[in-house]
Amino acid sequence: SKRVVSGIQPTGNLHLGNYLGAIRNWVRMQDEVAADGGDCFFFLADLHAITVHNDPKELAGNVRQMAAALIAAGIDPERSTLFNQAAVPAHAELAWLLAGTARIGWLNRMTQFKDKAGKNREGASVGLFTYPVLMAADVLVYRTTHVPVGEDQKQHLELARDIATKFNLDFGTDLFTLPEPMIPPTAARIMSLRDGNAKMSKSDPSEQSRIHLTDDADTIAAKIRKAKTDPEPLPADPAVLAERPEARNLVSIYAAISDESTEQVLARFAGQGFGAFKPALAELLVETLRPITARLAELERDPAELDRILAHGAAKARAAAEPVLAGAYAALGLTRET
Ligand code: TYM
Repeated sequence: SKRVVSGIQPTGNLHLGNYLGAIRNWVRMQDEVAADGGDCFFFLADLHAITVHNDPKELAGNVRQMAAALIAAGIDPERSTLFNQAAVPAHAELAWLLAGTARIGWLNRMTQFKDKAGKNREGASVGLFTYPVLMAADVLVYRTTHVPVGEDQKQHLELARDIATKFNLDFGTDLFTLPEPMIPPTAARIMSLRDGNAKMSKSDPSEQSRIHLTDDADTIAAKIRKAKTDPEPLPADPAVLAERPEARNLVSIYAAISDESTEQVLARFAGQGFGAFKPALAELLVETLRPITARLAELERDPAELDRILAHGAAKARAAAEPVLAGAYAALGLTRET
């Protein structure tokens, strides 16, 4: 049976890239997996968030807020285990045990580190560099089979597979399973509304670059209206669209939300300009996000209930992680209890 695990950093609001690239798949997996006797673990990656500067006064609130957003988007804490990473020490412990197996050369190839560290590589935190080892621990500690993520996390999961393979081989064990990334076909990489060559991201300083799940109908419509495009009408041929990054991005968003292929969307809108396409896209977005936004507002009124949900999830996660953590200590010849 399937064991599904994925995480999200509790920084900023949930945006459309997170939702279409990952969270919607979490919700789908939750239904599919429960039907076949498997289980799902979803967590707020607060230990990952501290690899860059994070205000300690805001972190707990951000964890709660992101938990509420996930529940509003369809994660059912009765069926899925929902928790924050810091509440399950096995993640951090296993990350240290795996640090003996992961190679510096492997980490040196990680493109996200290069992007996030920028020019000041020497001044980046050690945690930002070893971040993918913690991420490997996050999935390996549950013997995960499937990891629903956006395309930007694919390289990190390949590293997790390399670490698992080397650990199993070096220590003569079959403790770790190899996790399979699950990347959606049409929303693997949602781009900024201001620049079709930059990823939609919570770290972009422009609010106009992304749609938040908390945006109201007018804000969504305004952001789509102002989204960068080109003057040409939409083509019928996806290969032609592929050469127009901003147009391609808006069509991908439409296709992902309406659960259609790019071809199907183009078949409907070919020959029409953005004056017609943008209002149709805005309306679709507003209709899809409206129930999520409403539910989110309701959940945020009861922080004590959110804390109770997270505590319950953490207890379940600790129990699930413990045998694998014990197996890793034993495989390494380490004594935990005397
Ligand atoms: P994070 O918090 O940056 O993003 C959460 C999820 O959203 C996806 N995503 C996108 N998908 C499509 N288009 C975009 N523009 C876009 N932006 C974000 C991400 O791919 C991700 O799936 N390292 C992870 C969190 C993490 C994790 C894990 C994930 C920590 N441990 C273990 C899976 C398994 C991260 O920073 O995601």
